[in-house]
Amino acid sequence: MAKRQVRILVGAQWGDEGKGRVVDVLAKDIDVVVRYQGGANAGHTVVVGDEKHVFHLLPSGMLYKDCTCVIGNGVVIDPDQLMKELADLTSSPHRSAAKLIVSYAAHIVMPYHKLLDAMGERARNKSAVGAPIGTTGKGIGPCYVDKYNRLGIRAEDLTSPNILEQKLRLNLEEKNPVIEKVYEGDPYAFDELYETALEWGRFLKPYLADSTLAIDEAYEAGKGILFEGAQGTLLDIDHGTYPFVTSSSCVAGGANIGGAVGPGRVDRVIGVAKAYCTRVGEGPFMTENHGEIGDRLRTAGAEFGATTGRPRRCGWLDLAALSYAVKVNGINVIALTKLDVLSGLDTLRVCTAYRIDGKEYSVCPNSTIMSDLAELVYREFTPWQANIEKCRDFNELPEEAREYVRFIEEFCGVPVGLIGVGPGREDTIFRGL
Ligand code: GDP
Ligand code: IMO
Ligand code: MG
Repeated sequence: MAKRQVRILVGAQWGDEGKGRVVDVLAKDIDVVVRYQGGANAGHTVVVGDEKHVFHLLPSGMLYKDCTCVIGNGVVIDPDQLMKELADLTSSPHRSAAKLIVSYAAHIVMPYHKLLDAMGERARNKSAVGAPIGTTGKGIGPCYVDKYNRLGIRAEDLTSPNILEQKLRLNLEEKNPVIEKVYEGDPYAFDELYETALEWGRFLKPYLADSTLAIDEAYEAGKGILFEGAQGTLLDIDHGTYPFVTSSSCVAGGANIGGAVGPGRVDRVIGVAKAYCTRVGEGPFMTENHGEIGDRLRTAGAEFGATTGRPRRCGWLDLAALSYAVKVNGINVIALTKLDVLSGLDTLRVCTAYRIDGKEYSVCPNSTIMSDLAELVYREFTPWQANIEKCRDFNELPEEAREYVRFIEEFCGVPVGLIGVGPGREDTIFRGL
């Protein structure tokens, strides 16, 4: 059993920072890994030898048989996706997967949520103020709307035919007219959806539990617990580049609510950041490079979405945005991934400030309107040419790469505790997280 330590791991940029691989590195010494928000919009990649696993709903500790993985109350679950992921896992060489607990209170993504997600995007496309968000189409926004509107169907409801019937009827009374009249779509038939939902309930039942209690028991027993954030700080509903965000609290504070861990119990917050920046979907991305550099980062970093396959937008590291993430999450240590992707460049830059109305901000403002007006201040670095994939110690890195990492530490005021030099489990310089 691991020493009691409660850590929250968050994405410190726009998602896809490599959270899955960092969780996998840590999970071998951890007892419980908890997902606390988001749903199948996430795609967390873990590469072990020749095998690649992409977790959408399952926590990234699933490959360790001694680990308990929890899907917390703050997650929204697409049961078909969960069934598929579990089946994929059991057919892989990692048959002895971790124990899984699913919170009674997690909300269910229903088929109408996915339809409303797609229709909402189409409507925004036609609106004068809105551009589409470029959602993943997984029904995340509409599902959280129902949760906060107190109409949502929770995991436990699927195991209670009477409650399910009432809730589903209520939802269809509300949704069908909107689908038909506003979006000119076909209404959902109650019977078919009800049968599907009951089947989901039968599948989920063995995993359902009070995750709040399970996490508390693990805490009281002195276990090591890791809360695995999905998406990233700049996609957070409150702290991100609104409205181009997801519909949940991706920041560390989200774990207090969606993972049921009181703030006083948390020892440490780990922020995962790429050595450059990427974003999928629409919205502000100040350091985005539309030219050769952007293409080069996309190719070298294989920057294509793990959930949708979309090409990711790429650009230089934005330290003003990363500093913002450090502050908003209370990050104590950074896990810096994909440093290897920067090897062999002709130029290397990072953004160190946003200049707005003549004033320089080294922490970016939480204002989409202000950011749009900003001019960026860059610092140049000397690029390194050596391949660093085999480096396993900080001192094995070329001096220019060490200088780059040291600058990030000084700028953000926190240490870099892990450096990713390749996608595999072993491709890691570990300094302590
Ligand atoms: P997540 O959503 O934050 O878990 O990140 P994704 O899995 O969506 O995207 C990260 C991608 O980068 C995946 O394809 C990983 O296999 C890959 N990756 C992670 N860390 C590194 C690294 O240090 N170097 C390289 N080259 N690839 C990495
Ligand atoms: P992981 O956990 C990157 C983006 C979408 C879109 C916006 C809203 O793998 O880092 P949504 O479907 O959530 O309503 O889409 O958020 N997005 C992500 N981008 N990584 C993710 O997850 C993302 N999950 C959602 O592209 O711009
Ligand atoms: Mg991802």
